[in-house]
Amino acid sequence: MDTNQQPLSSGGSTTASQRQSSRIYLIACIAALGGLLFGYDTGVISGAILYLTQDFHLTSAQTEFVVSVSLIGGVIGALAAGPMNDALGRKKTMGLLASIFLLGALYSSLAPDYLNLVFARIIVGLGFGAIASVVPVYISEVAPTHLRGRLVTLNQVALTIGIAVSYGVDLLFARFGMGWRPMFAAAAVPSLLLLLGLLIIPETPRWLASHGHWEEAQTTLHQLGRSPEEASQELDEIKQSSTRALKGAFRQALRELLNSGLRKALLVSVGLAVFQQFVGINTIIYYAPTIFQAAGAASATASILATSLVGIVNVLATLLALVLVDRFGRRPLLLWGTTIMMLALLALGIAFATITNRAGLFVLLALFVYIIAFATSFGPIFWLMSAELFPTRVRAAGSSISSFANWGANFLVSATFLTLVGWLRIAGTFWLYAAICVAALLFIWFLVPETKGKSLEEIEQYWQ
Ligand code: BGC
Repeated sequence: MDTNQQPLSSGGSTTASQRQSSRIYLIACIAALGGLLFGYDTGVISGAILYLTQDFHLTSAQTEFVVSVSLIGGVIGALAAGPMNDALGRKKTMGLLASIFLLGALYSSLAPDYLNLVFARIIVGLGFGAIASVVPVYISEVAPTHLRGRLVTLNQVALTIGIAVSYGVDLLFARFGMGWRPMFAAAAVPSLLLLLGLLIIPETPRWLASHGHWEEAQTTLHQLGRSPEEASQELDEIKQSSTRALKGAFRQALRELLNSGLRKALLVSVGLAVFQQFVGINTIIYYAPTIFQAAGAASATASILATSLVGIVNVLATLLALVLVDRFGRRPLLLWGTTIMMLALLALGIAFATITNRAGLFVLLALFVYIIAFATSFGPIFWLMSAELFPTRVRAAGSSISSFANWGANFLVSATFLTLVGWLRIAGTFWLYAAICVAALLFIWFLVPETKGKSLEEIEQYWQ
């Protein structure tokens, strides 16, 4: 009889748990539309710029400015995300940001002149700067511990899809001679989808609890598919950490971050933020066509095509990270990924220093290796850790400061790449990024803790 009942009962609970886990995946996917917007709006400019320069007769300084101005918006948005996220809650903040994306998409596609376009790109930048940290915080707070890495990584998958789709959309509208306006307007679609999706996903139990809404927090845990035992255990853990909650007072959170054991958490997160950019990823994401041309690509089309391949490899490798991150843990992936990136950068430098006719293919291969290593390490893991390293009461503040550091470093690297190439040539510039990988390795080895399999409350205890 036992043997008969066993499969029946476990079959029943498997279906229930499958339903629960598809629900939590759906919730994470809806939130990850924010990541898609982040990726799309950072990538779309690369193709649009070719038409903008013609239509508005831009000088190269004006061109550089319209590209980088959104990163300045990003830096400001990243800083604004923390107080907003604490005061309004994670869900309402995402709603506000989706509306900003919608406005930015329409405004930039209709911009009558250069000045309006600059303002529109600042608005879009505010949106992606803020959403970059808000989504990982949201997902990390609704995810069960054993799936947290994977679910937050979904955001990075969406981000890379956003970048790849933006390359595709640029190519499509370029083919049909429709210019830059529809390229910007297309971002309205995911913005609307996110706004609609927000109608069906809940506020996070941790934000609710830290604002005293215990009953709602409990109901939400049930909605998220936790069993009654899991929900009460999770609520107990949240209670223990949130009874000391600062109820969202952003300034107090900042003070606590700077003056307690949590200073180390901030150091780790900000360090990862800066290294994620200083290893040079966006010189490739933003300047790939230029790099391929320097490596001897036959035509502009060939280099745009090679760039699209980089975009696709980025998505596929990030999908691989989904599987790896909760299996192997954050530290091994960071250490391996950074080592491989360093080797690929060394190889790229060598290819450019001793360039031959066949270097183009070699450069493409080395870039693929670099992208795969980034996409399975620093790409998803920085955003994941920037959310999970901090206790609930300072999570929004901590991740917002880390995101601010990330956007600042992004701006610095993107704005100096071409100058560096002028001084050190392409080979020397890639070797410089390889040397930064070595510093990153030391940083990870000595300072970054493993967070795989630990609840957010256990991670908090680690810092005490
Ligand atoms: C980084 C972005 C980068 C992207 C590439 C993200 O994790 O923060 O700056 O463009 O990965 O996939």
